[in-house]
Amino acid sequence: MILIDGKKVSSDIKSELKEEISALYNKTGKSPGLVVIIVGNNPASEVYVRNKHKACGEVGINSTVLNLPEETTQGELLQKISEFNADPNIHGILVQLPLPKQIEESAVIRAIDPGKDVDGFHPYTVGELVIGDPKFQPCTPAGIVELLKRYDIDPSGRHVVIVGRSNIVGKPAALLLMQKKKFANAIVTVCHSAAKDISVFTKQADILIAAMGVPKFIKKEMVKPGVVVIDVGTNRIEDATTKSGYRLVGDVDFEEVSTVASYITPVPGGVGPMTIAMLLKNTVKSFKETIRND
Ligand code: GUN
Repeated sequence: MILIDGKKVSSDIKSELKEEISALYNKTGKSPGLVVIIVGNNPASEVYVRNKHKACGEVGINSTVLNLPEETTQGELLQKISEFNADPNIHGILVQLPLPKQIEESAVIRAIDPGKDVDGFHPYTVGELVIGDPKFQPCTPAGIVELLKRYDIDPSGRHVVIVGRSNIVGKPAALLLMQKKKFANAIVTVCHSAAKDISVFTKQADILIAAMGVPKFIKKEMVKPGVVVIDVGTNRIEDATTKSGYRLVGDVDFEEVSTVASYITPVPGGVGPMTIAMLLKNTVKSFKETIRND
């Protein structure tokens, strides 16, 4: 079994981006800018946002975190987004999800300028992904493909089974992996909670992507020997032995499944750091387009 080290790969990507950003700064005197908006104080979101901000600092992206109170109205949030859309120093806008219930997620995502949609969630970007060539690839699915690339696991012609159909992971991962391209071109099955016996599908996987948000759901009997396992789950479970009182576990029962898998991602340290690396990459891509258009 080979452990897929997302932390290491993401660190390599960050070094590459740091060099690129520095070279661009020397040429233009400008740096990429990202704004991350968080509404309320969801503890998991706060950790994600802090990690994104820290990663920006490491590579030389100017990052601003806008913390808005839990009771922020949709109108107030849309107003902020419209200001950032118009700001030439901001190349990427990310609104951390989930949002408080008075705010409609879809209205917020649609308000972001598709040219600054570094999360890849805007319907315009998703539409481009369906056709095949999005300006911004959604970060988590792009991070999965990048991991496969760097471990030389070519999904072409292989059966990728995705468990979970979210707009953030399951659906866009399916779209990305079925493209007629290098390090895609897979036969993709998406299954979800409506399946009577989900193991009928998971057992067929050459590459299994677990992204349904149920702690340790995928067991050894549900996969075939030699499977490549990509665990996207980040579930907080209580653990009195840790300082924070919780720990993160994936959607895969790592102890069991790692005994039969050929490759597997750990949680934490697998897909999570890759999502952030891809966000940085998208922000640099957006920045490069603006300096090209100057
Ligand atoms: N919430 C969980 N994952 C994500 C993500 O990738 N982007 C945003 N904006 N919110 C999230």
